[in-house]
Amino acid sequence: MKHRSLVVVTAGLSQPSSTRLLADRLSAAAEDRAAGLGVALTVRVVELRDVAHDLMNHMLTGFPPAALREVLDAVAAADGLIAVTPVFNASYSGLFKSFFDVVDKDALAGKPVVVAATGGTARHSLVLEHALRPLFAYLRAAVMPTAVFAASEDWGGDEAEGQLGGRIDRAGRELARELEAREPAEVADPFALTASFEELLAG
Ligand SMILES: Cc1cc2nc3c(=O)[nH]c(=O)nc-3n(C[C@H](O)[C@H](O)[C@H](O)COP(=O)(O)O)c2cc1C
Repeated sequence: MKHRSLVVVTAGLSQPSSTRLLADRLSAAAEDRAAGLGVALTVRVVELRDVAHDLMNHMLTGFPPAALREVLDAVAAADGLIAVTPVFNASYSGLFKSFFDVVDKDALAGKPVVVAATGGTARHSLVLEHALRPLFAYLRAAVMPTAVFAASEDWGGDEAEGQLGGRIDRAGRELARELEAREPAEVADPFALTASFEELLAG
């Protein structure tokens, strides 16, 4: 059995949150599909509302409070990421963007990422393509082909639920395949020596 880590970042503000619900459904699908490939996933869910004040403090001072630092380190160390935002004014929410503004610029490089969003209307589902995908492409993440949008109407009724469930399962399968195929993430040590002791002593 292989072991891989998954961090799920969710930016919902409501309690209960439909964004959190979508995040949980996606991580369950990934876990399920990964298990089928012989990969045990360790899942960590990060609710950004819990570090919202820390984010502002980090932006204003340049230093992340301990709780936020720990979350940023977990994201950098993860083998894969699921990132879910509510749509606010036709884009990702400010909280979601603020978090990825303080993620180290190399932390997501090459990392498989599923992007997903919730919204009041399916008319805004292309937010995934014109806002989330470019953001994660800029951060050099490996964004999975299936991005999942859940509008209010997707949660009610068997047919709508079935279609949403199909998209969630496909995204989970794509992520699981990537996690299975890749080596575990390596996190660069910022204190690692870049020269040998001999070179340092020689000046
Ligand atoms: C300030 C604000 C702006 C919003 N703008 C949009 C929008 O442009 N398009 C949309 O489809 N839904 C919009 N919504 C609805 C939310 O995206 C939707 O209710 C979301 O699922 C809430 O997620 P939560 O339950 O996790 O908090 C907006 C909601 C708020 C509060």
